[in-house]
Amino acid sequence: MTQEHVTARVPTEYHVCAADDVAERDRVLIDAGGVEIGIFKVKGKFYAYENRCVHQGGPVCRGDVLGRWEEHLDEGGQVVGADFSTEHIDIACPWHGWEYDVETGKNIADPRFRLRSFDVVVRDGDIFITIP
Ligand code: FES
Repeated sequence: MTQEHVTARVPTEYHVCAADDVAERDRVLIDAGGVEIGIFKVKGKFYAYENRCVHQGGPVCRGDVLGRWEEHLDEGGQVVGADFSTEHIDIACPWHGWEYDVETGKNIADPRFRLRSFDVVVRDGDIFITIP
């Protein structure tokens, strides 16, 4: 008979920084037990993702945070203008430009691809994330 050792992972909470230290549309990066995580602030809310792009593992959390480029069409489907959205905010991976919605972590071209996310809470003015 063999003896198996099962290691149960215990969720671990990590302190990030003061919530006021993160500017709108900016991020902070932390090492949480060997996992690099980017914590973003968009529209006053915080989102945390592993700094690993689904495409080829690039440092997605170091990419630009920008409004999604959106074209405006007339009734016939012709482009009549375009601008950066103030509603849809994305992270652009610095390696090959894959973009992810900051609020969902989903790739904007193919939502089947999404960044690994983590729970974020703000407590007494400080940000905490939990690694399950
Ligand atoms: S590794 Fe991120 S776009 Fe290729």
